[in-house]
Amino acid sequence: MAAPMSTHDFDNKQFLKQGAEAKVYKEKFYDKCCISKERFSKAYRHPSLDKSLTLQRLKGEIRAMNKCRNLGIRVPVLYFVDTNTSTFYMEEITNSQTVRDYIIHIQSTSPDDAVEKLTPLATKIGQILGRMHRGKVIHGDLTTSNMLLSGNPDNLDIVLIDFGLSFLEGLPEDKGVDLYVFERALLSTHPNTEQVFEIVLDAYKHENKKEAPDVISKLEEVRMRGRKRTMVG
Ligand SMILES: Nc1ncnc2c1ncn2[C@@H]1O[C@H](COP(=O)(O)OP(=O)(O)O)[C@@H](O)[C@H]1O
Ligand SMILES: [Mg+2]
Repeated sequence: MAAPMSTHDFDNKQFLKQGAEAKVYKEKFYDKCCISKERFSKAYRHPSLDKSLTLQRLKGEIRAMNKCRNLGIRVPVLYFVDTNTSTFYMEEITNSQTVRDYIIHIQSTSPDDAVEKLTPLATKIGQILGRMHRGKVIHGDLTTSNMLLSGNPDNLDIVLIDFGLSFLEGLPEDKGVDLYVFERALLSTHPNTEQVFEIVLDAYKHENKKEAPDVISKLEEVRMRGRKRTMVG
């Protein structure tokens, strides 16, 4: 049997994505296919400060993922964390596509009834976000690329990923900002999705009845601030 691979065994690593803060690969963890995510250091930061910030973020990430799982929200199973290389080894969500690719596909194949076709997805997203916020998790980077759809689109199973900016114990303000980040990401990536976001919000309100009024009024406040900024800037 082959020896466990080190992070330097590039032959067996398939590069997937380079983001602003991390590189994502598909590779083997022992015999299992997995996704590895390696945070690289920022050249402008002092090395020891950088190391401790990266470690803090890794811890926050793991905490938020565990909390989500306890809330019944699907997240990749974490296999191993290598703190020396700031690398995360996690379950590969197979047969998945990003919500981003799914929306693009629906909008291009059904331009006339895209909203109707996207309603089940939007409802599911609203339910998951409502449940996540009820459990005091702020994702911090809600985009349609950070949500995977696994399996069959008729039986929607959403997997949340990319918890690097997550934190726990959110106030209504944090939750409102979390929703605002998602609204901006959705509308700027996918044209004509205002109604889709409204469906997300309706499902959110239903799932997080108690907090929703405060969260939505914060969302509206943040929207106003955003608008003012655009008018001035
Ligand atoms: N566990 C996973 N299973 C399958 N694909 C994944 C997984 N994690 C990440 N990906 C893919 O890699 C992309 C980037 O991962 P992500 O964690 O969002 O990194 P980044 O910080 O660069 O945005 C995702 O949009 C998705 O396509
Ligand atoms: Mg991402």
